[in-house]
Amino acid sequence: MIGIVGGTGPEGRGLALRFCLAGEEVFIGSRAAERGRAAAEEIRAKAPGARVDGGENREAARLADIALVAVPYQGHREAVSELRQELSGKVVVDVVAPLAFSSGRFHALTVPEGSVAQQLKALAPEARVVAAFHTVSAADLLVPDRTVDCDVVVCSDDREAKQQVMTLAKCIKSVRAVDGSGLECARYIEDLTALLLNINRIYKGRSMIKIVGI
Ligand SMILES: NC(=O)c1ccc[n+]([C@@H]2O[C@H](COP(=O)([O-])OP(=O)(O)OC[C@H]3O[C@@H](n4cnc5c(N)ncnc54)[C@H](OP(=O)(O)O)[C@@H]3O)[C@@H](O)[C@H]2O)c1
Repeated sequence: MIGIVGGTGPEGRGLALRFCLAGEEVFIGSRAAERGRAAAEEIRAKAPGARVDGGENREAARLADIALVAVPYQGHREAVSELRQELSGKVVVDVVAPLAFSSGRFHALTVPEGSVAQQLKALAPEARVVAAFHTVSAADLLVPDRTVDCDVVVCSDDREAKQQVMTLAKCIKSVRAVDGSGLECARYIEDLTALLLNINRIYKGRSMIKIVGI
């Protein structure tokens, strides 16, 4: 079971849809159970037969074999702190980018721990933290028949957890998973999202990344 904390936003719903299309079972978490259930309903409408349910974030974390955290950076510290026990021992995938918008541009914020993924590890030390999916456009994920032709860079200090998440990423058609080294490197991929969002504003597009030369 894949549980998504903050799963009602575009990124959480988009990933949930793609995982469901690949046959995975998904639980969409929210601060309000009814919003989680409504998001699950929306996924079932797009993907009939999808094995998806929704409810509170705590339930998503409790039920998950693999948990994703997809809240805005501004809510990350509190959301993770509250779920420390439920996330203990689990593979936890952080998709959060530390972003702010001012003066007409997106900026990457400085995270005291080095990256949001490292912040998660500091708040939930028993979690098997993996950073991934930062550069995948929610707008593309949410359209079931749109090809998501991009790389997903995956960072973790836990080899087995990283492998599991690379396999999960590849269940999204046309996605390639790329090993991005240890959790310390998560900051590079998190900060890259500010660049992509600024490019999107200039070109009115949905930029994603592909690594060449490997
Ligand atoms: N959008 C993209 O294309 C994209 C791509 C890659 C990565 N990301 C990253 O993925 C994360 C989610 O992106 P998104 O666009 O889906 O974000 P979002 O819609 O702003 O937030 C996702 C969900 O988080 C919950 N939430 C909002 N504020 C919160 C708070 N203060 N504390 C706890 N939960 C809160 C809300 O759910 P409830 O109200 O139901 O609790 C909301 O639906 C972000 O960190 C973003 O950097 C986004």
